[in-house]
Amino acid sequence: MPSFPPHLKRFSSSTTLAGQLALHLEGHLRRWLTPGDKGPRPLGLATGRTMEPVYAALVSRLLLWNEADLKRLRSLWCSFNLDEYVGLLPDHQGSYRHYMRERLGDPLQLPLEALQLPDGSADDTAAAARSYAADLQRRGGVGLQLLGLGSNGHVGFNEPPSDRDRSCHAVMLSPSTRLQNAMMFGGDPAAVPERAITLGLAEILAADEIHLVVTGPSKAAILARLLRLDGPDPSLPASWLLDHPNVCLWGDAASLA
Ligand code: GLP
Repeated sequence: MPSFPPHLKRFSSSTTLAGQLALHLEGHLRRWLTPGDKGPRPLGLATGRTMEPVYAALVSRLLLWNEADLKRLRSLWCSFNLDEYVGLLPDHQGSYRHYMRERLGDPLQLPLEALQLPDGSADDTAAAARSYAADLQRRGGVGLQLLGLGSNGHVGFNEPPSDRDRSCHAVMLSPSTRLQNAMMFGGDPAAVPERAITLGLAEILAADEIHLVVTGPSKAAILARLLRLDGPDPSLPASWLLDHPNVCLWGDAASLA
């Protein structure tokens, strides 16, 4: 069993990391414009503080493209986010749909339906999870997957302990996750929804390439635990990435300290 991570990219700061990752993403999107046999596989996108500088750097780069290429990119764009809270209206400031519109959809003028997220406002949450998984499957599954790391080791909202074969599902969020994400809810963990819909490890591990992005001192402890493992451990969901042949860990000096 290989030890984690197969490919480690280390950066002095989260800003430098964001710039380099944006460059990689831009290259990936550039290849979308080259006609192939099949259309591009969807991008798998994450939310959270870690991704904010990445999306900002990506937007800056893409807005330098000529108008014809940008127009084509807009017509091809297809992304599936990892997760969404249950019970929030789509325009709620704390919803991931709002996050994606604000950071990527609006600045790039992407069609709303091009940014897919689970429907957290559906009455039947289990059915919404099944239909999201089916939509992703119909589009061929994720091509490039971006992942952040929860301070308890979650990826998406796959809370520990997590099963490798689980597909998109509804989940109860742990108190530590609600605390970690309280900032978008006025700093009050009790205001963070108790449930979410998340892609499972099954969909994540089916991606062609996976980029796990970890920044800041608050992730140092969980990252150190992950790096010590020599095989998957359900109590640390991100460790299932060891089962994937093409994973890259992007870390800054603070998280890798
Ligand atoms: C959150 C989200 C993930 C995110 C991760 C890291 O709870 N469900 O999609 O990638 O945890 O969040 P952050 O970047 O804010 O630390």
